[in-house]
Amino acid sequence: MHQWFVYDDFDQASRSAADFIADKIEAAIRLRGVCHVALPGGNTPAKCLAYLAKKNLIWEKVHWYLGDERCYPKEHADRNDVMLELNLWSRMSKTNIHTITAERGAEAAAEDYRKVIVTVEHFDLIFLGMGEDGHTASLFPGNDALLDERSVIPVYNAPKLPAERVSLSLATISKARCRVVLASGIEKSAVIAQITLGEALPINCLGDCHWFVDADAASSSEL
Ligand code: 6PG
Repeated sequence: MHQWFVYDDFDQASRSAADFIADKIEAAIRLRGVCHVALPGGNTPAKCLAYLAKKNLIWEKVHWYLGDERCYPKEHADRNDVMLELNLWSRMSKTNIHTITAERGAEAAAEDYRKVIVTVEHFDLIFLGMGEDGHTASLFPGNDALLDERSVIPVYNAPKLPAERVSLSLATISKARCRVVLASGIEKSAVIAQITLGEALPINCLGDCHWFVDADAASSSEL
């Protein structure tokens, strides 16, 4: 079962998601001495990541990954790793940051990243965003990539530019110990209502998630 946490506004949802993620990171380090976290792209997570960056955690024991990356050249303004560097990773040791070589093209980058994550049996936490169509990472409804069972997959013909991307697969995200979704805004309320009714959208095919949403995003649901 999904767990829903609804907040009056986006700032409170972001702050609470950051608190939750920090608690999970601390617990993983306490239990296993290390924590593997995959992060989302898009616009929604920036505020949450900035709150997370202010936490007092044993950062050198946290390894950072991407849930997906857009096939743009390195340092392109719309790459997910550029947003993550700006909001969180600039404070972290570069040795613990594992980016995706998306500039090499989807197939080659997916092969590279499969080798990077091969030692990660289970991600401790995968932090996800969600599109208005119920996509997450770069897993879009009806896209062939949903059928690819490799751990990291190339994505083509994505409806959200760029068309070519690299993504953790449904299988990999489903294996994570914990999934956190942050969603905000009235434009996501319709898809959240579909999700609460069990619609088989990609984000609803990953297993249980901890959802942090604001009142606007929850406004079409009985949450
Ligand atoms: C991407 C993201 C994608 C994103 C959603 C939501 O590369 O675009 O990984 O999955 O999380 O599209 O994006 P917003 O947060 O900007 O609404």
